Amino acid sequence: MTVSEIQNRILKLKKEKDICILAHSYQARDITEIADFTGDSYALSVKAAQVDAKTVIMCGVRFMAETVKILSPQKTVILANPNAGCPMAEQMDKELIEQLKEMNPEYTVAAYINTTAELKTICDVCVTSSSAVKIIKAMPEKNILFIPDINLGTYVAEQCPEKNIKLVSGGCPTHCRVGEKHVLKAKREHPNALLLVHPECIPDVVKHADYIGSTSGIMDYAIKSGAKEFIIGTENSISEHLQYECPDKRFYPLSKDLVCHNMKITTLPDVLNCCNGTAGEEIILDGETITKARKCIDKMIEYGG
Ligand code: 13P
Ligand code: SF4
Repeated sequence: MTVSEIQNRILKLKKEKDICILAHSYQARDITEIADFTGDSYALSVKAAQVDAKTVIMCGVRFMAETVKILSPQKTVILANPNAGCPMAEQMDKELIEQLKEMNPEYTVAAYINTTAELKTICDVCVTSSSAVKIIKAMPEKNILFIPDINLGTYVAEQCPEKNIKLVSGGCPTHCRVGEKHVLKAKREHPNALLLVHPECIPDVVKHADYIGSTSGIMDYAIKSGAKEFIIGTENSISEHLQYECPDKRFYPLSKDLVCHNMKITTLPDVLNCCNGTAGEEIILDGETITKARKCIDKMIEYGG
């Protein structure tokens, strides 16, 4: 079957079976083309609470499908490829965070949305890369324990000097693959390009950026900018999507190694098989996990707007 034949089958099944397909911006082009909605983690969470289809297929990673289930527990939520996890979300377990809370009783725990549903049950508020600064500033508490991304946490702490932010050492293995040497090489090769980076990159990369933001933030900035050339410091799908959106501009990946294998494991045939009911994993969460984890996501939406 060709790509467009598979896409047409998916579009037909979607209508017949009342399925909504959500795709993170790191998904491949053939998937984002047939998705009902594509965006960054924050936009997908907000959308998840609004969708009225019976079934939601999440093309992204596990914590994103869990977020949909937490926000829409009455829906059938399918993770398109069960092997799509986020290594950062699995770096810290409940026991570690419970110990940290005991050691820091005066701190409020802010969890990056890239955490498991189980971990969210013992945190106070969630943030995403696009909403973290706004949310931390809006919180009445001054002492914040930020988990699990030390790079996003460092960036947030710099933007919120009025807060006491304690960081824990975790991070994204994909974004941590790039260092200052990649920036210097890319800038040498493309001296007129602006550097747009995700805050999951290390501070030595972020300090050179012309713009720092989430995947959607980077895309919006590049689309609206009058500049013609950009070095893209996030997962390489974003460079590809931007090249389609803006054929008269040029986009250079900061490194060829900026590939998230977990995001890339989902294929278009996986999505078709999910629509046929022969693939994917239904996300099942118990009522207590949903209720407790939801408090922290609701707080995110309340402070994030
Ligand atoms: P966004 O908030 O940009 O969607 O980031 C999600 C993610 O996993 C980036 O690595
Ligand atoms: Fe997780 Fe990093 Fe992949 Fe995002 S890019 S899903 S944080 S491993």
